[in-house]
Amino acid sequence: MYVVAGATGRVGSVVATRLLEAGADVGVLVRRPQDAASWEARGARAHRVDLEDRAALSGVLAGCAGFFVLLPFDLTVDDLDAHADTLIASIAGAVGDQRVPHVVMLSSGGADLTDGTGPITWLHRLERALLRTGTTLTALRPGHFQEKVGDVVDAARGAGVYPVFAASADVPLPLVATRDIGVAAAAALLSPPAASEAVDVLGPAYTERAVAALLADALGRELLVEPLPEEAWVGALQEAGFAGHVARSLAELYRADEHGLLAPRGDRRVDASTPMETTLERLVAAG
Ligand SMILES: NC(=O)c1ccc[n+]([C@@H]2O[C@H](COP(=O)([O-])OP(=O)(O)OC[C@H]3O[C@@H](n4cnc5c(N)ncnc54)[C@H](OP(=O)(O)O)[C@@H]3O)[C@@H](O)[C@H]2O)c1
Repeated sequence: MYVVAGATGRVGSVVATRLLEAGADVGVLVRRPQDAASWEARGARAHRVDLEDRAALSGVLAGCAGFFVLLPFDLTVDDLDAHADTLIASIAGAVGDQRVPHVVMLSSGGADLTDGTGPITWLHRLERALLRTGTTLTALRPGHFQEKVGDVVDAARGAGVYPVFAASADVPLPLVATRDIGVAAAAALLSPPAASEAVDVLGPAYTERAVAALLADALGRELLVEPLPEEAWVGALQEAGFAGHVARSLAELYRADEHGLLAPRGDRRVDASTPMETTLERLVAAG
């Protein structure tokens, strides 16, 4: 039996679907009754468990062959570090309690670094905590999600502006579709490695200007590409509605990206093929 966290989310939903398609016995973690019902209708066992609840999580993980886990970011909490630490203690505690043999974790490029990467430092800490349990860890380290463009679709559609949190809009970076990460995660669960490994999951590379041009096509309107200087990031993020401490953490992440700290440095890589056009079609249709 495999257990999949984040089953209502972008990556976890694909992981659970692929495992069910492969005929596996799948338990999904959900929080709302309606999500439990819909997964049960699809043949999964649904467990209403919060990842912060070590005892409940441990109960579900008993006897499982593999566990897909992510570290959800909750940007509404007052203390981001403390919240991450609570989740990390609960997740790693439950994995250790049940001696789960294999964990596939949704991590990120840059998670090998201890600090200076904003929210990715929490993924670093979760990787380390899971490794300490003795499980075999597959740490999937994608770069940016293609779906992050969804954050600017409204501004682009309304004001015709495509903001870029970098000094240049002309640096190509790999952007991966969340669906491709889910496919890689399910494949890893079904064929566990002999030893722990970090796997870079890399999509095709695009510059921000190229993404803006594709978005402009999809929206049928011209877009002004607006690179923001570093000193404007925190203010712009606060204007967009983020609390000050969240804006500062995200700015640290952008700075890390600017300095190449999120570059792939895993043990091997998976090349993901979904093009940005496919993701944009979905995002624009949804918005
Ligand atoms: N954005 C990027 O470019 C990027 C890059 C690298 C890595 N990442 C990682 O990817 C993660 C997001 O993955 P995603 O996009 O697949 O997720 P997502 O679509 O944002 O969904 C989050 C999932 O986590 C669940 N969840 C949230 N808090 C929970 C809790 N306390 N207990 C149990 N479940 C909880 C949600 O369940 P409900 O439906 O019940 O809320 C939902 O299923 C981030 O947290 C980050 O670690 C992101």
